[in-house]
Amino acid sequence: MAVLLKGGLVVTPGGAKKADIFIQDEKIAALGKLSPDKACDVFDCRGLVLLPGGVETHTHLDLEVMDMHTADDFSSGSRAALAGGTTTVLDFATSFKDETMAKGISNWHRKADGKTYCDFGFHLALVDWNDALEDEMAQTVDEGISSFKFYLAYKGSLMVDDGRLYRAMRRAAEVGAVVGVHCENGDLIATFVDDAVGKGEIAPEFHELCRPAVLEAEAIERFCRIGEMAGARHYVVHLSTKEGFDALMRARARGSDVAIETCAQYLLLDRKLYSEGDFYDKAKVVMSPPLRTASDREALWRGLASGDIDFVGSDHCSFYLHGQKDHGLHDFRLIPNGGPGIELRLPLLYSFGVAKDRLSLERFVDVVSTNAARYFGLYPKKGALAVGSDADIVVLDPTAKWKVRQEDLYEACDYTPYEGLELTGRIVDVYLRGKKVVEDGKVIDDPPSGRYLARSRGEDLR
Ligand code: URP
Ligand code: ZN
Repeated sequence: MAVLLKGGLVVTPGGAKKADIFIQDEKIAALGKLSPDKACDVFDCRGLVLLPGGVETHTHLDLEVMDMHTADDFSSGSRAALAGGTTTVLDFATSFKDETMAKGISNWHRKADGKTYCDFGFHLALVDWNDALEDEMAQTVDEGISSFKFYLAYKGSLMVDDGRLYRAMRRAAEVGAVVGVHCENGDLIATFVDDAVGKGEIAPEFHELCRPAVLEAEAIERFCRIGEMAGARHYVVHLSTKEGFDALMRARARGSDVAIETCAQYLLLDRKLYSEGDFYDKAKVVMSPPLRTASDREALWRGLASGDIDFVGSDHCSFYLHGQKDHGLHDFRLIPNGGPGIELRLPLLYSFGVAKDRLSLERFVDVVSTNAARYFGLYPKKGALAVGSDADIVVLDPTAKWKVRQEDLYEACDYTPYEGLELTGRIVDVYLRGKKVVEDGKVIDDPPSGRYLARSRGEDLR
């Protein structure tokens, strides 16, 4: 059945304007001042804001870490995504040590296919680089995975050395792939952790104290230099510090085209959470990189508003406090890193960005949807309210006020680090390819109808 959304404030690639949207055959068929000339459902959207569905750049669904599976798999995680206005998720498929790319990708299809409620694609995270992977990369890109991730942190498990990263980026340049990197100096973190544990410093707050801001800035500086030498398109995942941001601005000033992702937690939560409450309160926010200071957050908000930071992901990597995070009750090294955030990414950015006049509505849409679609090869199918685009549409009430409560969320995790926050702006309805999948805040699409997205090589943002 065709649908007409009438009278909303529509955020189009040309700016926000009052318009009607006509949806037919999964696509936006017309946009402007329209009248229902054929049988269709008509919804009055006066007073509401219409956005392109969110494109989430950074999740870990159904990931196994230290013999524990994340609380959210593709089923619960993607329902949470839809409830929060995200209609496309890019998850980090991973090829672990000695696995081929094809093996990692087929493992991730097994986790996601038929279980995912929103549309989805994969980046491919790699923990090594060798001749076999070199040979496989072109085919992987041709088959629709055009972005790869490496870690400069997690020594002894996920980390690669600079030489391997350089070689991988040289190959990425040849085949037109993008390389994203987790930038923290893993060698120094391992040293600081050994020193801390040697002194009996095993409480959760030492996770943060072993990962100072300078280790992010150093790794960013190094990564940008390696990327410049290799000539590959590259981006920094989950930027958390002002020092790192400054290093990125220096790289751009010397001609680098590095792109930047940050995450909602680095825009909103403070490192003082590591010194408040009991083990459980602190373990909630054990993530890498750790939370930072007010001056870091100010730099990140400024970077978002100015257009220097390109997208906001969630790094949704949820572990239960009870039964998973508490494995590290007596040793912070055993706390699985990460936290939930897939469902609140748009609501948080709208409330603390647009409603607080830090971001224009257009800029908000850029950083939660459009830029990611462009950079990761999904635009204009995704990331735009435009004729011919998929009818992935978020209907938001800009004046509604509500309070975050974990028990109201679709995320499976037993906590949210945003508990109790008062938000302005509530997602009312969500359409996925023209089908209403969220109504009045509730997910109504059952069974799952998310589709896998093979991506093209994407485009530069500046
Ligand atoms: O602590 C985090 N972020 N865990 C997920 C893996 C990563 O580093 O992105
Ligand atoms: Zn991550």
